[in-house]
Amino acid sequence: MSPKNITATEINDDFDVRFTHRLIFDRDVLAIDNPTIDRIFADAPTDEPRAGMIVAVDAGLAAKTPGIHDAIRGRFDRPHLPDVREILEVPGGEAAKNDPAVIDRMLDAIERHRIDRRSYVAVFGGGAVIDAVGFASSTAHRGVRLIRFPTTVLGQLDAAIGVKNGVNRFGKKNFVGAFDVPVAVICDERMLETLGDRRWSEGFSEAVKIACLQDAAFFGEIEDAADGIRERDLDVSRPVIHRCAELHLRHIANSGDPFERREARPLDFGHWSAHRLESMSDFERSHGEAVAIGVCLDAAYSHVDGRLDRGSLDRIVDTTVRLGLPVFDPLLLDTGLIEGLEEFREHLGGRLTVTLLEGIGHGVDVHEMDLDRLRRSIAHLESNAPA
Ligand SMILES: NC(=O)c1ccc[n+]([C@@H]2O[C@H](COP(=O)([O-])OP(=O)(O)OC[C@H]3O[C@@H](n4cnc5c(N)ncnc54)[C@H](O)[C@@H]3O)[C@@H](O)[C@H]2O)c1
Ligand SMILES: [Zn+2]
Repeated sequence: MSPKNITATEINDDFDVRFTHRLIFDRDVLAIDNPTIDRIFADAPTDEPRAGMIVAVDAGLAAKTPGIHDAIRGRFDRPHLPDVREILEVPGGEAAKNDPAVIDRMLDAIERHRIDRRSYVAVFGGGAVIDAVGFASSTAHRGVRLIRFPTTVLGQLDAAIGVKNGVNRFGKKNFVGAFDVPVAVICDERMLETLGDRRWSEGFSEAVKIACLQDAAFFGEIEDAADGIRERDLDVSRPVIHRCAELHLRHIANSGDPFERREARPLDFGHWSAHRLESMSDFERSHGEAVAIGVCLDAAYSHVDGRLDRGSLDRIVDTTVRLGLPVFDPLLLDTGLIEGLEEFREHLGGRLTVTLLEGIGHGVDVHEMDLDRLRRSIAHLESNAPA
């Protein structure tokens, strides 16, 4: 048949969607007399039937906080707050993102309790549990309302902020996921008290990351605070956590590309190798520690590449060490590391984009990495890592 001689018809229109991202820092949010949770629901219409809510709790958090189920039930036991239909415990850490059964259990609970788009899922836990539960909540009914309660430092200053929900498949980080804006992110500093020292320190790698990229003054503040942070002095650590969270939120809200449709994702500084180190180590190396190493690696590369002066590189490595974080992993010497670059390119789509530094506070995107310079950067870290 010959093609019909008709003219193609195209109908286009533009539309904007406005989102509000609420981020709250507080202490003891589950205390009966703390009004923060009530405030979140203060604007809910009163003529609607009481909404239902499923709560997911990180099993690692629950193990350290024996009364948490009762505290959650007690706090939400008010007519104007959603009705807690079930509390599920989810395995903590990367296991939550590696095991598809976690998503299925969440979807099953959402279905059984008739959680609809006016109902809620709340999640208490580390970044991994928040990612996995957020993936389930953002795909059930194409999105039910999510409230995140991050309980790790990394969760409060980075992972729980923003619009990304991802889980791992085929051994690749965040291979499956969805963009979705939470109703609120509520950070309770009391919940950080049960973290071990390594878990505490590792979160601050993301603060070093964002300061290196965007804010030299903030880097100076982290540098000054590093010893107090390592000693877990909350008065010293709190402003760093809050400022880091704010920078992440501002970037998402104001960069003009919250759903990462375009090429550059400057908040991923140090992450191409971090993600690879995590998967090469079978997730023995945590995200936060891998980011500490990845940031130092890309800072060292920036120096070898002639962009970053030696004094700035030394400050970044020294601050990372003083925070109690690693700057080198023998897996950096494995040839498999390079595959991380291709994986990262594939994840971004299009050409490779890696962020380097042209000074502390000045990130710049490049589109290729030279393998010989990369080897020299790794050698630099190996010889400068504390014994
Ligand atoms: N979605 C995003 O935008 C985004 C951004 C950054 C990182 N992430 C993801 O976040 C994950 C890392 O999150 P993380 O660093 O919070 O670690 P994590 O979620 O892996 O948790 C680490 C461990 O801490 C335990 N835990 C959680 N809260 C606790 C508490 N209060 N007391 C004691 N133990 C507790 C957990 O059970 C787990 O064993 C990675 O999967 C990373 O890819 C996501
Ligand atoms: Zn990260």
